[in-house]
Formats: sequence, structure tokens, C-alpha cells
Amino acid sequence: MSNQDMDTQLASIQEEFKVKSSEVKSITDVDAINDYFFNRKKGKLTNVLRGLKSIKDPAEKKNLGKLANETKIEILAKLDKLALEYKSTTAKMSNFDVTLPGKTPSLGRIHPLRQVQEELVDIFYSMGFSVHEGNELENELYCFEYLNIPATHPARDLQDTFYVKKYQNSDIEEVLRTHTSNMQVRIMEQQKPPLRIVVPGRVFRNEAIDASHEHTFYQMEGFVVDEDVSISNLTYVLKEAMSKILQQSVQIRLRPGYFPYVEPGFEADCSCVNCDGKGCKTCKYTGWVEMLGCGMIHPKVFESAGYEAGKYTGFAFGIGINRLAMLKYGIPDIREFMKGDLRFLDQF
Ligand code: PHE
Repeated sequence: MSNQDMDTQLASIQEEFKVKSSEVKSITDVDAINDYFFNRKKGKLTNVLRGLKSIKDPAEKKNLGKLANETKIEILAKLDKLALEYKSTTAKMSNFDVTLPGKTPSLGRIHPLRQVQEELVDIFYSMGFSVHEGNELENELYCFEYLNIPATHPARDLQDTFYVKKYQNSDIEEVLRTHTSNMQVRIMEQQKPPLRIVVPGRVFRNEAIDASHEHTFYQMEGFVVDEDVSISNLTYVLKEAMSKILQQSVQIRLRPGYFPYVEPGFEADCSCVNCDGKGCKTCKYTGWVEMLGCGMIHPKVFESAGYEAGKYTGFAFGIGINRLAMLKYGIPDIREFMKGDLRFLDQF
């Protein structure tokens, strides 16, 4: 290669680089240009630099060497700039980037139902209630009989109750409790009034599942027994507790409801927190959401517990924790709770 050739070659390399670099669309193109000029075996500029060795005249060698070197530095600098520019816009990264944020390890969290339950427990605790646990496997005496639910009552129907086996080889059936009310008589047997008790827990019903029915759900039983307990005590406690858990002042409305262990019995509605009682989809445009069953404890229940007849009065209520959580968080489908879908659970 003559010296003259080398001169024109360097000029054409610069020209070629100009064209190629103007056509770059991605980091792959930048890599390709790099290879085209600097490949160790057949790179265009590598070849020119290698040719310098054969130049005899020292002055000429120095001159051309300088020119070749400048071309090399200039092209490398421009390639660097291009690489930086395209690195951030392309998915393919040739190098490990230590500045990228790491993967956040996912932490366990408390299930939304448990969160609501714990909040409720705190609220009732602050109102002077004590908290009891209860058994999920129960016999039909505490679940039904002692609560004035006769054997013929529809709640005992196989449709609703999961029957497990006979109780200690007797005629008594064992069941998965259908409500936390099973703990009323158990606790009354152990403690004498005044009583202020809440019992959170899991309950089971052999029901068809849909957006508002589950076979397994959570309740919180509450009851107060003393010498002069009235319905207005009941509404006050419910209003306080619901306002606290829903974080706004709500109204409580009692409608007649039938539960054999309370007389009178009520369905308690809560003013809709979604629309403030004005009417919306959540409350089916009524302004009220059905919250719980409650009432004044039936004398038969006191009798089951062995309390002196006529001495005490009391109220009881059973809050559906799933329903409350749905209202609190605006969850439209009860089945979400038990799916175990982290995309749902991670929101709480
Ligand atoms: N046990 C009832 C239910 O499961 C609720 C309830 C509790 C009603 C206490 C009255 C008194 O729906």
C-alpha cells in the first residue's frame, strides 16, 4: 500500500463513517460499525494502522501515523456517544448495568379479612369488651339446641350445615359451626354477668357459592349481659363500632329479623358509606347496606346457660367480617378473599 493510498483510505474511512453513523437505528448498528472498522482481523481502520509498519520514511510514518491515530480517536469517541444514546432506548443491553434498581423482595402481609378482624377487636376492646376464641368444630347442642334452634329449624338443614360425625358415639351430631353464636352459651356457662364479650372466628355453610356467598367466611359475635341492658345500648354500640371501622359517622337502622336466640330480633343496616346514604349501586339505591343480625338475648338462652330466670337482659350481634371488608374497601365479589391471588391481596 503506498503512502498516497493510505492518505485516501483514511479520508474514505472518515467519509464512510459519516454515512454509516448517520444511519444508526439501534445499539446493534453501533456494534456493527465498531466491528466494521475495528475488527482485529479485517477491520478497515485496523488494516490501515497495521500498514503503518511498512512505511520506511520516518517523517512520513510520523505524519500518517498521527493522522490515522486522530481518525481512530475521533471515530471511537463518536461511537461511544452513539452507544450511550442507543443503550437507553433499546431493550438489548450488552453490559450489566449496576445502576439498575434491584428486584424488591416481596414481603408477606396480613390478609385483608384478618386486618378488619384485628381492627374490630381493637375497637371493641377499647369499649371494654374482652375477646374470646371459639372452636370451629362444634356439637349441635351449642350450635343450635341451646340457642333455641329446634331440630326442625331450616338452619339445621343439610343444605346449610356441614355435619361431621356423631359426637362421642352419642346421638349428638358434630358440625362445623355455622355461626360464632355457638360461643354464647359456652362462655355464659363459664362466666357470670356482667359480660361484654366478642368472639371473632371462622364459620362454615354448605351453600352454593356466588359473588355474595362463600362456604367459609368470618364473623364476629358480640354480646353484653347485665341487669338493665336495652335496645338503645345495642344501637349505640353498633353505631360506635361501625363508625370507627368505616372511618366515618354512620347511621344504624334496625329492621325486624328472625333468629330464634334473640327476641326481639333485628337485621341491622348501616347507612351506605359509598354514597353517604344518598343511593348508589353498592346499596342498590336504598342508601342502606345490610350489615348484621342482632337482637335481645332470648330467655331460653339464659336458661341453657343456667342463669336465674328473669334476672338478666342482654343483646347479641353477629357481624359478617367478609361483608364488612367488602363495604370498607369496595370489593364487589366475596370470592376474592379465598382465591389466594397476590394481585388482589397485595393491595391491602
Ligand atoms: N348468628 C347470626 C348469623 O349467623 C347472627 C346473629 C348473631 C343474630 C347474634 C342475632 C344475634 O347470621
